[in-house]
Amino acid sequence: MPGVSPTVAASDADRLRRVARQHAQTTRLLGVDFLPLPARKPVLAPEPADPDPGAGDRAALLAALRARHDAQCPHCTRAKGYTQTVFGDGSPAARLMFIGEAPGAEEDRTGVPFVGRAGQKLNEMIGAMGLTREEVYIANVLKARPPENATPTPEEASRCGPYLLEQVRIIQPKVIVTLGKPAANFLLRNSEAMGALRGHWHDFEGIPVMPTFHPAYLLRAYTPENRKKVWSDLQQAMSRLSASQ
Ligand code: URA
Repeated sequence: MPGVSPTVAASDADRLRRVARQHAQTTRLLGVDFLPLPARKPVLAPEPADPDPGAGDRAALLAALRARHDAQCPHCTRAKGYTQTVFGDGSPAARLMFIGEAPGAEEDRTGVPFVGRAGQKLNEMIGAMGLTREEVYIANVLKARPPENATPTPEEASRCGPYLLEQVRIIQPKVIVTLGKPAANFLLRNSEAMGALRGHWHDFEGIPVMPTFHPAYLLRAYTPENRKKVWSDLQQAMSRLSASQ
């Protein structure tokens, strides 16, 4: 095309593919009854201007933390009935981090967080934001599957959770989205209800935190109202990410 450089044309095609994928994921996440109006200027996945020079260091620091966790975690080294620890998944240089509560059966089997039904829903949420799993980082408060998928107690969280805090400090995401009440309560050191927490910005060591419903809860209570709330929380996270380029 005269006057259009191949790089520009390729990046436009990339963008269109991303927007199409985002649109399809949004439709699936929200249902057709309250699709957002097409934005005049689509909010695209923020691309780092330069490859992160610290990405390799972060990967090495995470690997060292993982080894230390598996050898020393006062919760996981004593917990019974799990197959393997589930440390985290995604880019060590992620700008967006999701934090859930604890591995379930599928995660315990595979060693990867959020791969069961709740994980499929989380993948849709990430896709609706115009991102891929590889671009974000996903971790849990507890790294060993609790028996019967029990909700982590504050005591369990206080023993394993410090390793999650170290993960956050290594990755230094621009935005954190917590999934469900236990993750929000642990990270924000409070005991407030989801209704009071979600939809508002909070802070963890200077990093903005947006609590939203856990995808497993969304699957159980898949109402237009709850889907709207989750989408609104994710949109706020997207705006914050765009603003922090
Ligand atoms: N629920 C969570 O909170 N974390 C997982 O990894 C899977 C399900």
